[in-house]
Amino acid sequence: MLITIENALEYLKQGNIVALPTETVYGLAGSIYSHNALEKIFLTKERPLFDPLIVHVSSLVMAKSLSDSWNGLEIFLAEKFWPGPLTIIKRKNHNVSDLITASLPSVALRMPQHPIMLKIIQELNTPLAAPSANKFKSTSPTTALHVEDEFQSNVPVVDGGECSVGIESTILEVLDLSNIKIYRPGIITKEDLKNTLSQTSWKNVSLEYSVSEVAPGQLKEHYRPKKPITLRLTEDNTTSMEIRDGIIQHLPLNLSLAARCLYSYIREADKNSTTKELTLYFSNKLWNDSNWFPIRERLEKACSKIIY
Ligand code: TXA
Ligand code: MG
Repeated sequence: MLITIENALEYLKQGNIVALPTETVYGLAGSIYSHNALEKIFLTKERPLFDPLIVHVSSLVMAKSLSDSWNGLEIFLAEKFWPGPLTIIKRKNHNVSDLITASLPSVALRMPQHPIMLKIIQELNTPLAAPSANKFKSTSPTTALHVEDEFQSNVPVVDGGECSVGIESTILEVLDLSNIKIYRPGIITKEDLKNTLSQTSWKNVSLEYSVSEVAPGQLKEHYRPKKPITLRLTEDNTTSMEIRDGIIQHLPLNLSLAARCLYSYIREADKNSTTKELTLYFSNKLWNDSNWFPIRERLEKACSKIIY
């Protein structure tokens, strides 16, 4: 069911949940101060309680109301990349419930860029918890129609068009002033972060991808459509998939454009292809290109078989 921004504000004030557009993927949003809404998020997504939620804010001031100790590097990153697809893990304070963080001492914080999401958080003046608006382990939605396909009429959605980024935010934690760990790659890449920091006094900071024990949501199976996908690496530059009988779609060879259409492309093939299984052909060269790691990480989890 599509609803207006005004309807969404009412739902959220009453402790209900709504699906809202962000620039990365659609989120299933509820007030962090409503126990009812938080429970509904987990129930609707069929998400285990051990998988913590990201909290969305509309300003750095709001982020600071949820975590007390911000160092200069964290503030620099927030000011540089917010609003935008960067999530920063911070020690939480008493305003953040254990239900949100799965009892972890830390909370994931992000200021989204999509004007509808930002406006709603600003008007409510309340942070919103919002995991991607899909069932646990399934492909994230990048249009309002994807959300309706996922939850039918059970979840009201504000239609904010197609998500411009298309894959989930980069998640990082500043462990100390010389050490940043990236728990989930995103369109803000390790290279982007390195380049940005190279012009500052933090230029020597170590920046590494890390599979974190404290990011319990990062399971091996994730982003999965209903039909199994076999991924075949190709020697030429082909990245393609049959989305309907005989209709082949090619993934653009530009990282931002590829990220924008990746999930649509998987969802369309899952819904419309008459085959029982899906096959995705992916260029071996891009697979081994570190810039494409955000896409590779999604595909490694979305595909049930990879043929090298
Ligand atoms: O782009 C995004 O981040 C989207 C949009 C809606 O904002 N949200 C999103 O949320 O991708 P979700 O719940 O699908 O993914 C959140 C990830 C999970 O893997 C979870 O384990 C991790 O963030 N996470 C949450 N809190 C954490 C924490 N305190 N420490 C480490 N990882 C955390
Ligand atoms: Mg998700």
